[in-house]
Amino acid sequence: VSKRTASLIATGPSPAATEEPEMDHPKEIFLKDYKKPDYLFDTVDLEFQLGDEKTMVTSKIAVSPGNEGTSSPLALHGCDLKLLSIKINGTELKSDKYTVDPRHLTILTPPAGVFNMEIVTEIYPQLNTSLEGLYRSTGNFCTQCEAEGFRKITYFQDRPDVMAKYTCRIEGDKTLYPVLLSNGNLIEQGDLEGGKHYALWEDPFKKPCYLFALVAGQLECREDSFVTCSGRKVTLRIWTPAQDLPKTSHAMYSLKEAMKWDEEVFGLEYDLDLFNIVVVPDFNMGAMENKSLNVFQSRLVLASPEAATDGDYAAILGVIGHEYFHNWTGNRVTCRDWFQLTLKEGLTVFRDQEFSSDLGCRTVKRIADVSKLRSYQFPQDAGPMAHPIRPLSYIKMDNFYTGTGLRKGAEVVRMYKTMFGASGFRKGMDLYFQRHDGQAVTCEDFYAAMCDANNAHLPNFLQWYSQAGTPTVKVTSSYDEGSQAFSLKLSQEVPPTPGQPMKEPMFIPVAVGLVDSTGKDMPLTSIYSDGRVQTLSNDGHPIFTTVLQFKKKEEEFIFNNVPERPVPSLLRGYSAPIRLDSDLTESDLYFLLANDSDEFNRWEAGQILARKLMFSLVADFQQQKTLALNTKFVDGLRAILRSTSLDKEFIAKAITLPGQGEIMDMMSIADPDAVHAVRTFIKKELAFQLKDDLLAAVTSNRSSEAYAFNHDSVARRALKNTCLAYLASLNEPDVTELALNEYKSATNMTEQFAALAALSQNPGQVREDALLDFYNKWQQDYLVVSKWFALQATSDIPGNVANVQKLLAHPAFDMRNPNKVYSLIGGFCGSPVSFHAKDGSGYKFLGEVVLQLDKINPQWHPAWFQRSLDGGDMMRPDKLLLSPAGDDHLSQWTL
Ligand code: PHE
Ligand code: ZN
Repeated sequence: VSKRTASLIATGPSPAATEEPEMDHPKEIFLKDYKKPDYLFDTVDLEFQLGDEKTMVTSKIAVSPGNEGTSSPLALHGCDLKLLSIKINGTELKSDKYTVDPRHLTILTPPAGVFNMEIVTEIYPQLNTSLEGLYRSTGNFCTQCEAEGFRKITYFQDRPDVMAKYTCRIEGDKTLYPVLLSNGNLIEQGDLEGGKHYALWEDPFKKPCYLFALVAGQLECREDSFVTCSGRKVTLRIWTPAQDLPKTSHAMYSLKEAMKWDEEVFGLEYDLDLFNIVVVPDFNMGAMENKSLNVFQSRLVLASPEAATDGDYAAILGVIGHEYFHNWTGNRVTCRDWFQLTLKEGLTVFRDQEFSSDLGCRTVKRIADVSKLRSYQFPQDAGPMAHPIRPLSYIKMDNFYTGTGLRKGAEVVRMYKTMFGASGFRKGMDLYFQRHDGQAVTCEDFYAAMCDANNAHLPNFLQWYSQAGTPTVKVTSSYDEGSQAFSLKLSQEVPPTPGQPMKEPMFIPVAVGLVDSTGKDMPLTSIYSDGRVQTLSNDGHPIFTTVLQFKKKEEEFIFNNVPERPVPSLLRGYSAPIRLDSDLTESDLYFLLANDSDEFNRWEAGQILARKLMFSLVADFQQQKTLALNTKFVDGLRAILRSTSLDKEFIAKAITLPGQGEIMDMMSIADPDAVHAVRTFIKKELAFQLKDDLLAAVTSNRSSEAYAFNHDSVARRALKNTCLAYLASLNEPDVTELALNEYKSATNMTEQFAALAALSQNPGQVREDALLDFYNKWQQDYLVVSKWFALQATSDIPGNVANVQKLLAHPAFDMRNPNKVYSLIGGFCGSPVSFHAKDGSGYKFLGEVVLQLDKINPQWHPAWFQRSLDGGDMMRPDKLLLSPAGDDHLSQWTL
């Protein structure tokens, strides 16, 4: 673990940087050392002979010189391969003409000019537990090549700037592997001797090898079609084991919505006549955007109302969209090198966030995304693992699929849209594709397309790609009645991070509105800054929100013609990924909570108040004072809860307290026990004082209608379940009865699981019985069993370490399946108290499990740290991070 931890920190050349890499000294790779490849691959023809014991891979590559007159050796990556033969231009290469080490095959003196190379290797997918390269999952063959897994299939220049056209011929037993899939179009198939058959696929688009995919096995498909904006009919297929087919309808719906959305919003049309999605139970990450053959882990495709929650439905919509959107942002235009990961991931995460917003409720989606950023990414950016969204060096690329590259990267993309508006952003995207379709490019290329399309120059904006750490922006305001001027003084501070002691000021777009004493937005007419007056108008229409371009260490912005002292609504919609520290008073915040036209900031005002409250109670707790809840806070939440005009899901979010992780991230010394005690106290006290309103919300939000995944129904269930969770914290017989009743009468998983979560808050027989009943009901469904594991793993009941230890030995648990590891072990690491047990038993337990896991699948610790903690605890021992309330995958309704 420590080695991996070290690998994430860019601290200058490692001792191994100049030596020939060995297993124990992997080489550190630096962005500044990037060189174009010496050789290009024009076409790649692959042939797989799939077998139970061994698989033979033949790769025929047309090679051409990348740089004029190159004569350097051709180094190919390779890992766990058995080399059978190499031919150059048809002639077997003698063994003194190449070298092989555990990571490379080097052709010492390749011919000048264009030549053909044929390499035959043998691999053993059935022994591959890393789930990278070609491996087996429940009997089927499947590949995962991003980031550097293709080298486990054959020797290759495994880097994204080597783009080629591929064909893939797959040969295998017809009964065992009736379905043979790869990228592109199926151009030939047929039977062979000995009960075998074959399929030949051709992908007409150039691609890097990380987008290659092959799937073979016993699968069936749901088929549908989509007619594109230019009238082409695309066949859509989702492949799963036969019994799961009925659970693919929501995924198919999501895919068609995504295809339509990308045409409408970005003018991007799908470019082949076939699009396949394959479901695989064993998968390290969420899903993978292989060209026309996306691979997904089961939980992100399979859903039925009985077995999947609203959270699952939403995740499926978002991730199906995400992988589909990669076809343009990632595949058609790809990354020059892995340092540019955020170019495709930040942009595509942004695109999937926008897609989900457009199909659901924008404010609620924004709140969810910002909460995740704060709970997972902020702690990473403030700890020893801090790295810029574009890192400066890496050893294992797998470690960089982090909340920083993805979530903060998406925020950076969002800032372009905030500055240029939807149409300016679209112009930038159009220019990006016009310039770079078919290329492997850098973050600077994206920046240049955005700026050029908008005739803009954004000084300091590129710092977002190179400086780590979350900037803090301080705002102080003043009003001068005589001159009717309202001033905002802004100052910024980017904290030092490992390897980056000094920081430059960044370009920070701060969206601002001014709210008058009646709660209405004031029209903004002009601002004075930088010695210049800027008139604000929008074709004669008044402007209510303006984006301040804050780009120096300190800057003052003066709003003119402001008739009365306003309450400023700052950073509307969370216009930049920063920490805001303003001089708004408590009464300003209550005023914004009640009145702000920017709904995000209404929620935010409530959160700031809740944080302040939590901090002061933590101090009281630490000084052993009696805890008491401020009545203004209770009244504020009561008003929100009673509102009939607010969106119900918004209400559910607004009455949910900030997560423990978020609070601890803001403390100089984290105190998990104090934060947990305070959060539990507030929860119970609110439940006690708002009991009647909470009960009313539960009863009035029941519904006898059949399950539907649409915003109104989701919002109704969200509010009901949140209120039930509050009530259950009281641990009173009447609410236990109520929760039991909800549990028994539920007709969908969203409500059933929420009731189970409510019941399992309190130790005792009712809890035990409910958990057992749920397991007995669902033991056949491994995705539901994963939820059951997660619920218990995240529990804060006393002595939970021993419980989790027992669950490790449960017959349904399997150390080789990432979903189960993620639910039980990852869930445990996100538990509010047990993981941080004072006797160290939680950490000891994790240490032992990690040692076991590492032997099976080394990707697991980065993968589940990032997904459940996004760079949490282990990476930040000084500020132990906890999972926030309402984590999507774990227990949504544990508050
Ligand atoms: N590129 C994948 C996605 O966007 C994530 C992934 C990374 C999957 C690495 C596998 C390996 O969803
Ligand atoms: Zn992605």
